[in-house]
Amino acid sequence: MTQLDTRSVHAGRDDLTALGVHVPPIDLSTTYPLPDVDSGGTSYDALAQGNGPDGGSLVYQRLWNPTVARFESALAELEQTDGAVAFGSGMAALTACLLATVAAGKPHVVAVRPLYGGSDHLLSTGLLGTTVSWVDVPGIGTAIRPDTGLVIVETPANPTVDLVDIAAVVRSAGDVPVLVDSTFATPVLQQPARHGASLVLHSATKYLGGHGDVMGGVVAAGVEWIGRLRQIRAVTGGLLHPLAAYELHRGLQTLPVRVRAQQATAAKVADWLTAQPAIEKVHYPGLSDPQELIGRQQSGPGAVLAFTLTGGYAAAAQVAASLRLITHAVSLGGVDTLIQHPAALTHRLVPPDAKPPAGLLRLSLGLEDPEDLTADLQQAFNSLPQRDA
Ligand SMILES: Cc1ncc(COP(=O)(O)O)c(C=O)c1O
Repeated sequence: MTQLDTRSVHAGRDDLTALGVHVPPIDLSTTYPLPDVDSGGTSYDALAQGNGPDGGSLVYQRLWNPTVARFESALAELEQTDGAVAFGSGMAALTACLLATVAAGKPHVVAVRPLYGGSDHLLSTGLLGTTVSWVDVPGIGTAIRPDTGLVIVETPANPTVDLVDIAAVVRSAGDVPVLVDSTFATPVLQQPARHGASLVLHSATKYLGGHGDVMGGVVAAGVEWIGRLRQIRAVTGGLLHPLAAYELHRGLQTLPVRVRAQQATAAKVADWLTAQPAIEKVHYPGLSDPQELIGRQQSGPGAVLAFTLTGGYAAAAQVAASLRLITHAVSLGGVDTLIQHPAALTHRLVPPDAKPPAGLLRLSLGLEDPEDLTADLQQAFNSLPQRDA
């Protein structure tokens, strides 16, 4: 197999030369001509049950779209899984995984915090008919019950970038499938399926797109899960638009370069932050990795970090509002640097006992010069009252 950088550029493009084109065509059809009623019906059955088109008509965009399928096959090649299923957002992707779990008669989920606030909220509310046991990694084994259908972890976790040992989780989960939200790592830094994860989820909105202009979600998995997830997507309609799929597929081509460059900036900014008197703690696996997962599980520490200000909420709010180059906005993983206050925003719906600290800000590093970023942070810290700065 070729190296990841090569695959990122070429995956999902093998047939282009034969087609006589250099970039993938975009198929926007919402419906497809049917040769006759019988074969149309057979194709409909196959697609609605989660199978591929196998030479038959594609019938209807909600059942199959070739542009989306290209992105899926490319992502699966990077994650080294049998396939992938793409959705309209990361939350739609997680919803499909939870619906599949409930449909299999195993609605109990064991999950490790922190998770992205939206995922935490979806599980805490039980909106989809799941129940959840929140545990730490050593507690996974004892939390598993006969009706447990899924173990969910996020690594690096949003917002504190804590790392979770995927192989240890898989061992504790036994026969229960493990879902790893690998949004922060991307396939460039880790491939959770190689450590035994059954489902690898990405908010494609983040690094895969990389430019803040496309929303999507994707789950990479083995063949059985792929069928189940496609079936759920076909009947519930959480599909990815083909134009978004095109952008995400193109985003994969520059993913390794972007992630590594953004990671190098994150490492520099993290070092700089540790010397700032306004800061109590910098959360970054490049500074502290007690389980020694960098190198073993994840090839580098990534490009997101978080830091806690000694001045608590007031200082965090003041810094967020004072930045000029860095944009104060939710989301992450794009080419420009974003900062946000998890407790008030992305993790707003998380119950009080599990909320991130009030003084914590999350920073997603982009492709700007690190010195310009630290200069902006410095002027924001300078605006703090003297006792906090
Ligand atoms: C780790 C993680 N997973 C899932 C999601 C949800 O993805 P989306 O916003 O694309 O629905 C997010 C969004 O911030 C996230 O950070």
